[in-house]
Amino acid sequence: MNIDWSSLGFHYTETDYIVRSTFHGHRDEKGQLMGQWSEPEATRDKYLHLHVSATALQYGQEAFEGLKAFRGVDGQARIFRMQANAERMQRSAEGLYMAPVPTDLFCKAIRLALVKNIDYLPPYETGATLYFRPLLIGSTPRLGVGPGVDFEFVVIPSPIGPYYPGKFHCTTFIINNHIDRAAPLGTGQFKVGGNYAASFRATEAAHLQGYDCMFTDAKTHSFIDECSASNFIGIRGNQYITPRSSSILPSITNDSLMTIAREMGYEVIRREIPVSELSEFEEAGCCGTACVISPIGKVIDPDNDTVYTFGNGEPGPKLTELYQALQDIQYGRARDHHGWCEIV
Ligand SMILES: Cc1ncc(COP(=O)(O)O)c(C=O)c1O
Repeated sequence: MNIDWSSLGFHYTETDYIVRSTFHGHRDEKGQLMGQWSEPEATRDKYLHLHVSATALQYGQEAFEGLKAFRGVDGQARIFRMQANAERMQRSAEGLYMAPVPTDLFCKAIRLALVKNIDYLPPYETGATLYFRPLLIGSTPRLGVGPGVDFEFVVIPSPIGPYYPGKFHCTTFIINNHIDRAAPLGTGQFKVGGNYAASFRATEAAHLQGYDCMFTDAKTHSFIDECSASNFIGIRGNQYITPRSSSILPSITNDSLMTIAREMGYEVIRREIPVSELSEFEEAGCCGTACVISPIGKVIDPDNDTVYTFGNGEPGPKLTELYQALQDIQYGRARDHHGWCEIV
């Protein structure tokens, strides 16, 4: 194996093993799903033997997660907040009428995926990490519309490159009020494939123009909702402001940053954010596992012929400090007093 860590992007690089567990079930007379997950197993086989009528393929019964392991400054492997990802996947499973993967089993599968692929954990200071993509799919063959009772859970590891191979830099977003990613009472709060498929028309249109896509709320198209596949953050004075919305994914990165921000003395506010309030933020950014924080330099609102700019096009000092504080915990450079990292 010979990987040039610094030239890896955010794309799939095959590792030796994936980890897999299977659930076979049935519903009892009260509609309760009964059944058991098999012990997670590492396998070199990257293909699933899936029936063409599996509910994942026919009806989109599918959920996924994304989390990372970091090689710390001390050389140790740290997995970041995997229990939080396990719990979020349980909520997604409930949202799509699937069997939840218990936290113990989820964490066991992630640890196994790391240990079996330890050579793929990038060295410290390359900026690269080992990303895990847990995936839960319905495998029951069905043609009649309805949920299945059998599921596959897999963990797909892949080393991924640094999000900022050059330097920490700003991005530009364009607002799309014409395509909704998720409905207010729909599946936006779950990490399920359908939300992403529904967003591609808007995100790809933005990419063709050289931008990322900012979604507004589907009901009124006046509040900031999701920033492509990340949560929005606005900074005004000592306020850290982030959207409260039933159609955005509760980001684990955002949750971590909110905790750090409170500790730094920020007032953390979660509420609806009108698009027009963008003019009041000194700094803006979006956050997620992939980038931690991606500072936003500009937001274009084509429907209102408005361009919002933040700072001088360079990442602002407050988001830079928050970014560094979280990375310091992830790389073991700062004390992890929240117990977010598990050393494996
Ligand atoms: C739609 C969406 N929002 C937000 C996030 C950020 O979530 P997290 O910080 O847990 O990666 C992601 C990425 O997982 C996402 O896909």
